[in-house]
Amino acid sequence: MADDDSRAGSRYATRPILDWCADTHAPHDAALARAFAPPDGVPAIMVGPSEGRLLALLCKLAGARKAVEVGTLVGYSTIHIARALGDGGHLWSIEFDPAHAAIARDNLAAADLSDRVTVVEGAGVDVLPTLEGHGPFDAVFIDADKLNYDRYGTWALANLRSGGIVLGDNAFLFGELLDDSDRGRAMRGFHELVAKACDSVCIPTPDGLVLGIKRT
Ligand SMILES: C[S@@+](CC[C@H](N)C(=O)[O-])C[C@H]1O[C@@H](n2cnc3c(N)ncnc32)[C@H](O)[C@@H]1O
Repeated sequence: MADDDSRAGSRYATRPILDWCADTHAPHDAALARAFAPPDGVPAIMVGPSEGRLLALLCKLAGARKAVEVGTLVGYSTIHIARALGDGGHLWSIEFDPAHAAIARDNLAAADLSDRVTVVEGAGVDVLPTLEGHGPFDAVFIDADKLNYDRYGTWALANLRSGGIVLGDNAFLFGELLDDSDRGRAMRGFHELVAKACDSVCIPTPDGLVLGIKRT
């Protein structure tokens, strides 16, 4: 059940409630804890523990084996997704910053996932076309530069199998989704093209997570 306030989006979640739920449903092991605490100089801008767990469960529900991530950082969401893939699965994760990519590779080795994940260095728009031969894919997770979300979404929809899932983090654009800005237009374009090609929703995580299941 919901009441008027919660139906309209008000939240009962407090920080202690959110922490308790994350500890209960999505506890960190050593590998996740390591990737959640990047070294000095690397921003801690990864998804939260519950969002990471949500990504993993959605990939599991979709029966994902082959996945692509745009925006590795140091591999926190990468570990969640890679662990959720079926037998023989593989994740290609794209990262623009070589320093982030190097730390991610170390974190993935510590998680015993080096053979399941390829971290590809470069800009998403340049790297994505080079991955097409590995497709079609079962899941694409977008979590990088917001100006290109519409381009990443277009690529995802062209390279997912029917029934595959596209996920896009920061879908509320830090509160700026409706702004008259290039980022706002790109993010709204992403929402709209996913809504057109998929059964979709924007899950009201703290900054919004678009989920689309590609139609036939
Ligand atoms: C929000 S972080 C990714 C967090 C990660 N998905 C997680 O939750 O653990 C965004 C990452 O995208 C990278 N990035 C920025 N622009 C990019 C681009 N054009 N292509 C690929 N990666 C990019 C940044 O260097 C940064 O490491």
